[in-house]
Amino acid sequence: MAYTAYHFATIQHPDGVKWDELPFESTHLIKGREKNLFVRSLLGQGYHAMHHFMPHVPWYKYHRVWYLGNNIFSKQPIPERPVFGKLDKNARKKFLKAKEKELSRLNVKIARIEEVAMNIKTYFLEPTEGKVLPKFSAGSHIDLELPSGIKRSYSLVNPPFEQHQYQIAVKKEENGKGGSKELHEKVGIGDILKISIPKNNFVLYEKPKRFILIAGGIGITPLISMAHRLEELDKHFEFHICAKDEKEIPFTYELKNWSFAPMVELHLDKNGKPTIDLSAILSKPDSETLIYVCGPKVFNDWILSSAVDMGWEKNQLKQELFTADASAFDPPREFQVILRKSNKTINVPKNLSIIDAIEMQGISIDYSCLQGTCGTCVSQVIEGKIDHRDAVLSEEEKLMNQKICLCVSRAKGDKLILDL
Ligand code: FES
Repeated sequence: MAYTAYHFATIQHPDGVKWDELPFESTHLIKGREKNLFVRSLLGQGYHAMHHFMPHVPWYKYHRVWYLGNNIFSKQPIPERPVFGKLDKNARKKFLKAKEKELSRLNVKIARIEEVAMNIKTYFLEPTEGKVLPKFSAGSHIDLELPSGIKRSYSLVNPPFEQHQYQIAVKKEENGKGGSKELHEKVGIGDILKISIPKNNFVLYEKPKRFILIAGGIGITPLISMAHRLEELDKHFEFHICAKDEKEIPFTYELKNWSFAPMVELHLDKNGKPTIDLSAILSKPDSETLIYVCGPKVFNDWILSSAVDMGWEKNQLKQELFTADASAFDPPREFQVILRKSNKTINVPKNLSIIDAIEMQGISIDYSCLQGTCGTCVSQVIEGKIDHRDAVLSEEEKLMNQKICLCVSRAKGDKLILDL
């Protein structure tokens, strides 16, 4: 009796998952159903899913029907489990999360590509279905999945009132992790890419009367979208752009021709030194102004600490970081991650992040910026030395070696054991 209940009812059904809510996930396939003699002796129950989809099919035909219809059943997200072992109490939560993530992705077509500065291209992404894309707010970014499967996060540049397209600008990093190179070299007009719906970790608070936007290099991208929005709101703002050379600033033509051109001021380095005069720009702190800064960490730190020194309140300062130059770190090496809760060992090749490698195994991870700047992907490490490459964890946290940003950080040795 107990044997029958275990094999014909208990192990077939993920804990708490109901057919009405998650039909494909409401049943298990049993590992070894093809070749393991014991599993094959379970009267077709290795393919119990067939009983859910086609209850009129007798058990001895489950195996054959499974492969009919151009493998339609085997393409569904039906979870697998071994015959023996504990039921996963969090199954429903995990499946719902994965489904939510799937629904938050959409396909877009590359409609146009333009070179907008030295090594910087802008990409216009249009919907593949219908005419509009989900609305976004200034400061938003999208996660873009490249043909190789790796994901990168890019700020939206275009005005937030546009819904017929998204626009991103990407600098090719020769010494980067490969995402920008792949986009520049392997993606062309007409290609279809998967993206996330826009997310915003760099919100433009629209109530204040005045705004100071300060960009360092490619950090200009979210601030352009903000400038469009501030202009639409008829707010007073200044837009300062710092760069080594004018050739490195994207959209120089547009910056001179957009209607907010009079608010824009370029500050080009002289003799390798920045020329922006912070003592003039930040000299009069006032409670009706917000300062938005976007650039590399050293740049942001410099601007924000200068502002604090000049009397600005910390809550008036908003920043978004661009990941540190990858050449500042050792070249990435291959290593393994062991997921203790999921009982999986996954190889992380040198061109993939831990998130990329884990997600390619069908395991869903929470993330947002994919640049080591928001903290969404921070996870607990049980064993192994961490090679920290993020801008989220404090120096103390990094020294404790207990938390890792899965989107950018790596292992110092051959493996990391994660509490996942
Ligand atoms: S996703 Fe933002 S820090 Fe990793």
